[in-house]
Amino acid sequence: MARLVIVSNRVAIPEDSGKSVAAGGLAVAVKEAFTSYEGLWFGWSGKVVEDPSEEPELIDRGRVQYAVVDLSPQDHREYYSGFANRALWPIMHYRLGLGAFSRSDYAGYQRVNRIFARALAKLIEPDDIIWVHDYHLLPLASELRGLGIANPIGYFHHIPWPAADVFNTLPASNDLLRGIADYDLIGLQTDPDVHNLSRNLIDELRAIPLGGGSLMVDGRRTRIRSFPIGIDVAGFKEAAENAGANKTVRETMAGLRTRKLLIGVDRLDYSKGVPERMEAVDRFFASNPDQRGNVVYLQITPKSRTEVPEYEELSREVNETVGEINGALGEPNWTPIQYVTKAYPRPVLAGLYRAARVGLVTPMRDGMNLVAKEYIVAQTADDPGVLVLSKFAGASRQLPEALLVNPYDRFEVAEAIRTALYMPRGERIERWKPMVDRMTREDVDWWARNFLTDLENFRTIEREPPRAAAAAE
Ligand code: UDP
Ligand code: G6P
Repeated sequence: MARLVIVSNRVAIPEDSGKSVAAGGLAVAVKEAFTSYEGLWFGWSGKVVEDPSEEPELIDRGRVQYAVVDLSPQDHREYYSGFANRALWPIMHYRLGLGAFSRSDYAGYQRVNRIFARALAKLIEPDDIIWVHDYHLLPLASELRGLGIANPIGYFHHIPWPAADVFNTLPASNDLLRGIADYDLIGLQTDPDVHNLSRNLIDELRAIPLGGGSLMVDGRRTRIRSFPIGIDVAGFKEAAENAGANKTVRETMAGLRTRKLLIGVDRLDYSKGVPERMEAVDRFFASNPDQRGNVVYLQITPKSRTEVPEYEELSREVNETVGEINGALGEPNWTPIQYVTKAYPRPVLAGLYRAARVGLVTPMRDGMNLVAKEYIVAQTADDPGVLVLSKFAGASRQLPEALLVNPYDRFEVAEAIRTALYMPRGERIERWKPMVDRMTREDVDWWARNFLTDLENFRTIEREPPRAAAAAE
């Protein structure tokens, strides 16, 4: 197979020990997918420095080479915190009221995509296949085409693609649509996401459907398909089986005594519905007073994007909510909500998921949500726990046997918690089995293979010349 070049804003560079600190679902999944391939992973170093060099730093780690660039404070502010995380992120997650568009942020977003393209283009070889990830890099294919790169370029969007009326509220919406159409293959998490983007291209850019997910946009062919992202099932299962040896897991289990554990694991992000979930737990204790003292809710929520004001505000809101609920309900020997903002390594999470009778995954909107899949895979076959899952998470389409809830309705979520806690073992096994089987079939390898096979096939199709290169002739 040709060399694979992965491009993403976040890059999970393993330490010399082979371990790496993963930041969110993209880094986790791409790192796991990459174990089966050789190639190059390009992106941001995670460092912000005055006067960054445009030459990437090259790091060799066996079969994978890493090439990373630093960002200047202005680039970081405008491209990452500004346009990517204050305009695209809220709009893609249907949070119109939180979208903050600024022309200078958008200019910074375009500038960094150009800088990335210039640095990357020098490293590209003629047979490379390029796979770009996530909303930070929507215009990257156009920039690369402008530099004469004619290799197949695919894009995978890890977050939701909203309905046209929501996406089009972005002042740069048509520009972004034209940019994404320069990818040869566009992967989205679910069929509704595919529908939203395809309709938008047809209505706004007069794209012509060619069948099989292909569209002709401004004389170039692109293809849009869903590829739901998966997890490393074998690895995660093994981690869950061995987690009993871990001190944090052992002590958490010992501390529970006969109490049942509810668990939530999310980056501190307003899309995850953490305060709303806490209110649902509060509701559950209000209507099930006999359960006070018998159930503990552990919420693990590493801080995220702390320089973005909306995240700062959320952090305050969650702290207040936890304080109020624990103050009102707690006893000297029982704290209903244990809230931690430290990030835990995934092998520890695997053990905690396994110890939890109920997994609470109730985002207000989520592209996929890997935590839901990890919770399922971590369970024991003869006594599995129950997943309470938002119907607005992409994962709900592959996990319909979970207790699906509307996260905006705290009464419904409270009721689902009660149902989960009282669910007989037979029903728990009956619901869990098809879900774990599906997760095993549709794992991270399946995801990467499907996407790359589609992108490789692109080579065999006769291609139109890239727009920018054609214009230069
Ligand atoms: N995660 C982790 N440590 C933590 C919290 C989360 O390693 O303390 C991992 C989690 O196991 C999962 C990923 O971060 O693999 C989160 O992915 P998800 O799709 O659920 O959400 P995202 O953060 O990408 O929006
Ligand atoms: C989500 C996004 C990723 C991002 C991750 C963590 O998973 O889809 O692109 O890397 O969140 O967010 P951060 O801003 O820390 O990279």
